[in-house]
Amino acid sequence: MDVALEKRQVERAYELLAPVYDFIFDWIFAPGRQAAILHLGLRPNDTVLEVGIGTGLNLPLYPPSCRLTGIDLSGEMLDKAVERAQKLAMPGVVLKVMDATSMDFAENEFDKALATYTISAVPDPVAVLREMRRVVKPGGSIVILNHFRSERKLPGHLEDLVAPVCTRLGWKSNLPMTPLLNEVGLTPELIVKVNMFNGWRLVKCVNRK
Ligand SMILES: C[S@@+](CC[C@H](N)C(=O)[O-])C[C@H]1O[C@@H](n2cnc3c(N)ncnc32)[C@H](O)[C@@H]1O
Repeated sequence: MDVALEKRQVERAYELLAPVYDFIFDWIFAPGRQAAILHLGLRPNDTVLEVGIGTGLNLPLYPPSCRLTGIDLSGEMLDKAVERAQKLAMPGVVLKVMDATSMDFAENEFDKALATYTISAVPDPVAVLREMRRVVKPGGSIVILNHFRSERKLPGHLEDLVAPVCTRLGWKSNLPMTPLLNEVGLTPELIVKVNMFNGWRLVKCVNRK
């Protein structure tokens, strides 16, 4: 599908989802979130980029000293994140509407980057991961938490089958992990299965460049 069209579909989907997003995605996906922030291995004063921060459900999990920048394509999702950051009194948090495929950041600007449940929601995951590599310092961590296409035959076929419907709802059900990481030159240091039925994978990579 045309990337520009898919991007408009994603924007529309998250405009509609924003008011109910936390109700659906908070508790079910909480274990993965906790593991993802833990595996970022944050140190005081680290600069962190969260890509597709959505409504900011990860915000309470960051240490207070963290210098976090969060970006999202959807203004409606980001408005919720702004409210949350204000409630949590997190002055070190900067939130911006931005397309993760063409980020307005310099090379090597961040120590670490995180994308939770986002890589399968973006129209062009390769471009997003390339941008994450560009803006993270050499040796910095990139942590991705996502559902990827199952490597088992039947579940994989089922995920292919429902893919057209899922795309309209704003995410890809059948994104294959290994070819994606290979294409962008990321080698996982750690892969942990998380959440219900171990259906999601937390992937930690070191940004070698
Ligand atoms: C399933 S939500 C995940 C939100 C959040 N990371 C979480 O853990 O709850 C996917 C998010 O990715 C955002 N997104 C999709 N495409 C994007 C893009 N090209 N650039 C930035 N954000 C994007 C959507 O607007 C949405 O907020």
